[in-house]
Amino acid sequence: MPHTIVIFGASGDLTSRKLVPALFNLWRSGALPPETKIVGFSRTPLADDAWRAMLRESTAKHAEGAPVDDASWAEFARSIHYQPGDIGRSDDFQRLEERLRQLESDAPTTRVYYLATAPQFYEPVVAALGSHGMAAEADGPRRIVVEKPFGTDLATARALNEHLHGVFRESQVFRIDHYLGKESVQNILALRFANTIFEPVWNRRYIDHVQITVAEEVAVGRRGSYYDASGVLRDMFQNHLLQLLMVTAMEAPVRFNASAVRNEKVKVLEAIRPLDLGEVAAAGIRGQYRGYLDEPGVAPQSQTATFGAIRLEVDNWRWQGVPFYLRSGKLMSCRTTQIVIGFREPPLELFAEGRHRGHREANRLVIQIQPAEGIQLHFHTKVPGAGMKLRLTDLEFSYSREFMGRLPEAYEPLLLDVMTGDASLFARADEVEKSWEIIDPFVRAWSSVDMPPIDLYDAGEWGPASSAEWLAAQGRTWFDTCPVLT
Ligand code: BG6
Repeated sequence: MPHTIVIFGASGDLTSRKLVPALFNLWRSGALPPETKIVGFSRTPLADDAWRAMLRESTAKHAEGAPVDDASWAEFARSIHYQPGDIGRSDDFQRLEERLRQLESDAPTTRVYYLATAPQFYEPVVAALGSHGMAAEADGPRRIVVEKPFGTDLATARALNEHLHGVFRESQVFRIDHYLGKESVQNILALRFANTIFEPVWNRRYIDHVQITVAEEVAVGRRGSYYDASGVLRDMFQNHLLQLLMVTAMEAPVRFNASAVRNEKVKVLEAIRPLDLGEVAAAGIRGQYRGYLDEPGVAPQSQTATFGAIRLEVDNWRWQGVPFYLRSGKLMSCRTTQIVIGFREPPLELFAEGRHRGHREANRLVIQIQPAEGIQLHFHTKVPGAGMKLRLTDLEFSYSREFMGRLPEAYEPLLLDVMTGDASLFARADEVEKSWEIIDPFVRAWSSVDMPPIDLYDAGEWGPASSAEWLAAQGRTWFDTCPVLT
């Protein structure tokens, strides 16, 4: 069956930087299903060719891999169409439907509606699709992709879910989190569930704690006004960091399908210990980079966190007593996303020589998600020579060394999954609501007027000094290492 991808917000950044480059790469690698059409809908009055020309330029800039050559582009561009329209005008949806029918020659087609607009337009688009019968599946599947942010708290996420469910069935809804499209995030499932050697130690008996860090080098840039209302908790924790926590902590699903995988993920969220307001304040550290207040769109006295570190406890048999530390920030020392599994120390210390600052570093498994992707296992070996002097060394797996060639950009596998209807890597309604339930108390505590002034940090640090002190008080240290794999 042919596919049509209808992009709402066609003139926006997401479309030109991510969606169309990803579709182009899929097409060029032969992975895009044949007869796929891309239809942009947006207010700017443009003809098909004008939109194609704009996309040619942005795709050349943003598509990973080989340069975009004229011949390939010309062939790909034949599948691109543009329909000008206003989300607020019912007639424009009527016209869109007519155009789609014409492009599809009234043949059964899988349609994917992609909400790449600002979030305030999600509900009006869904309502209009409903009132024009565009969610009905008489002529082929109809699916809708919802970008983040999915709500700004539990109440708004619930309302958006209800709204979506008024028009689409849950199985038609694909809530996207691009972190789940990253190869090495999916590889965590392979590492854990396609091997027998990791699972036996993947629990409270052997693991002391887990650190999940998403450090960014960039500042908030042009997104100051969005970011100031959002902050790091809403921007990164509710979605990306909790997704990483779920895939690290979940039990093995009985089957690799959307419902089994997502059931296990939701169980992790259900096991996270709820904290009251007082406990929340002690379970995290917030920070703001120096200079944030000068960013355009940021309020003059803003206390919005651009850095956050929080501690969550997963109360189940596997993880009881193993803290999960989640940390993310802008303008940090380097760009790295890593999950560090910190193992316990051996029960008996035979080799006291050469201890480091009074304690020996324990084994670690570092799963590096970006910039380079791979895994490093840290373990002790004897330094050659006299005595039992030990040093931490490593075993390493690097994606780029092992598998030559380009790794697909996160949006590529995700777009294909939507087209084939595989929702395993998309958030379910209950998953998003549970995530907000966990993050909301932190948002409330951190925006309370009773909080002391936010801790500041300089660009290029690992957050404010209080973050390291907070972890040290719990007998642990951050793994502050810029990408271990390059
Ligand atoms: C987005 C956030 O969801 O993820 C951004 O809104 C952030 O603030 C980005 O920079 C990080 O994504 P990646 O893939 O570059 O780690």
